[in-house]
Amino acid sequence: MSDRDARLEALAQEIRDHKGAHCGFEVCETCTQLVPGTGPASASIVIVGEAPGAKEDAAGVPFVGAAGKLLDTLLGEAGIARDDVFITNVVKARPPKNRDPKAPEVAHHWPWLEEQLAIIQPALLVPLGRHALARFAPDAKISEAHGQVLEAEGRRLFPLYHPAAALYNGGLRATLVADAQALGAALAAR
Ligand code: URA
Repeated sequence: MSDRDARLEALAQEIRDHKGAHCGFEVCETCTQLVPGTGPASASIVIVGEAPGAKEDAAGVPFVGAAGKLLDTLLGEAGIARDDVFITNVVKARPPKNRDPKAPEVAHHWPWLEEQLAIIQPALLVPLGRHALARFAPDAKISEAHGQVLEAEGRRLFPLYHPAAALYNGGLRATLVADAQALGAALAAR
């Protein structure tokens, strides 16, 4: 294990250990476990969803449910192996009944994501969906920014629609596939 992987794993353990911290935030206290994220420190891309759902809460791993299956397909379209990317969420704990995370909850968890990004230093950060995008580029619209590189606050973003959105709106699937192919090309052209 490289030194950076060891730092990333120590941080993951710190996030998991937060479960017993009694911090007073509802998401941290009601979740089954916190879900730090998975992937190597050498990842060139970091994929960021909003928060774990029920399957992720049970498994302790991000994107293992239906949206995760589609994410796997999209990574295949991009020519990227899941083991080569780091996948995480803005908020590391499942909000009750999958409600949207509240701003103070995002602020409470944000330093962990900052630290993960500081260790990994990815070439591209891929926010999934409008909520995750808004955390990195508050003025950007997912309908305009998806599928291309966007520089925001010193970061290179490559926003994608959230795969869960395509489960409800089948028309988005073709867009997501095309965007994933463009992501693969952007990564290869680096
Ligand atoms: N949706 C997300 O945003 N994150 C997950 O981990 C799973 C579903």
